[in-house]
Amino acid sequence: MIKTAILGYGTVGSGVAEVLRKNREVIRRHAGDEVQTAYVLDLREFPGDPVEEILVHEYEPILNDPDVRIVVETMGGLHPAYEFTKQALQAGKSVCTSNKELVAEHGVELMKIAEEHQANYMFEASCGGGIPVIRAMQTGLAADEIDAVTGILNGTTNYILTRMEQDGCDFGEALAEAQRIGYAERNPEADIEGYDAKRKIAILSSVAYGSHVDYTKVFTEGISRITTTDMQYAAALSARIKLLGRSVRRGNDVSVMVAPMLVFRGNPLYDVNGVMNAIFVHGNMLGDAMFYGSGAGSLPTASAVSADIVDCAKNLGKNTALPGTGETLNVCPADEAENAFFVRVGADEAVKAEACFGKIRSVTVPGIEGEAAFTTEVMTEAAFREKLQEISDVKGYIRICR
Ligand code: HSE
Repeated sequence: MIKTAILGYGTVGSGVAEVLRKNREVIRRHAGDEVQTAYVLDLREFPGDPVEEILVHEYEPILNDPDVRIVVETMGGLHPAYEFTKQALQAGKSVCTSNKELVAEHGVELMKIAEEHQANYMFEASCGGGIPVIRAMQTGLAADEIDAVTGILNGTTNYILTRMEQDGCDFGEALAEAQRIGYAERNPEADIEGYDAKRKIAILSSVAYGSHVDYTKVFTEGISRITTTDMQYAAALSARIKLLGRSVRRGNDVSVMVAPMLVFRGNPLYDVNGVMNAIFVHGNMLGDAMFYGSGAGSLPTASAVSADIVDCAKNLGKNTALPGTGETLNVCPADEAENAFFVRVGADEAVKAEACFGKIRSVTVPGIEGEAAFTTEVMTEAAFREKLQEISDVKGYIRICR
């Protein structure tokens, strides 16, 4: 019997308890032993819930119980999740988490502590919800040099953009629904402004390249300035607007960005809608692979956490992390990134825009008046900003996914 303790009985923690309960038999078979939830730590009470009997409000009983070999950290946030995780690893307990905030901020240190104590720190559920992309990169692609990762990494924003595009739904309404279903972060700003996707692309890039990518250096733009007018233009271009996390590695440099982008029909990411996530990976031997699946929500995320639990259960007393280079990649300044853009300007600025941007392609949508819209050639972000400054009435712009 292998005992686990779940820290935080929220959306994901309660999902993990349910997966361990409902899939007990398959988990026992794959782990080679029974996996039992021995404790649930939460400040709240849950009368009538199956975990009522094992609920504790203090961490010490868990930390001091030598039979607890795996701790599930689904508290979210940095504190006390960081301290609890560190203490568990130092006690030789493995930790499985969905907490991308913590992994992005302290993952390198926590993985090192895990290694020093023959335990594991696993975070499959921190990126892509239930999609087993981290494991795929670490096992199936272990013989490849991965040089690019692009993904729709946030279910909430993809859900909002899909509802806006397909149902003409208003931003606030779609967000409220995403929160109700349990997709959104406690603070919706993290989803909408791209901070969640920023952490995820940094984590995925670090795993993909085997070298640390500092999430604080990732240029990030959210979806809060996307309008239904943009949606109409996107449709006219046979494109959809998606919040993408994108990173490309060249030697010790990585170019990495989170921003809403126009994705054209024909690109597999075009058909990734609603809460679904997808991650495109390019390996030097493999070429392209795309991983697609449920990107948020209680059970999909819990499924990924539970797979990590099985992995930890099979490897008690043994650190199984792939060795990284121990280096941190240099994040290139966003100004140097090269993109083509879709731009909307006031009707009076159309001629000036053409003079500034040179070769452009006009886009028109019947019924939209008083403005001009066009797509540009590929240029650096710095050059784009310089040209844009010459135009006084800019109504918006969106990068184009190549
Ligand atoms: N808020 C996150 C999302 C949850 O919407 O993708 C899953 O990480």
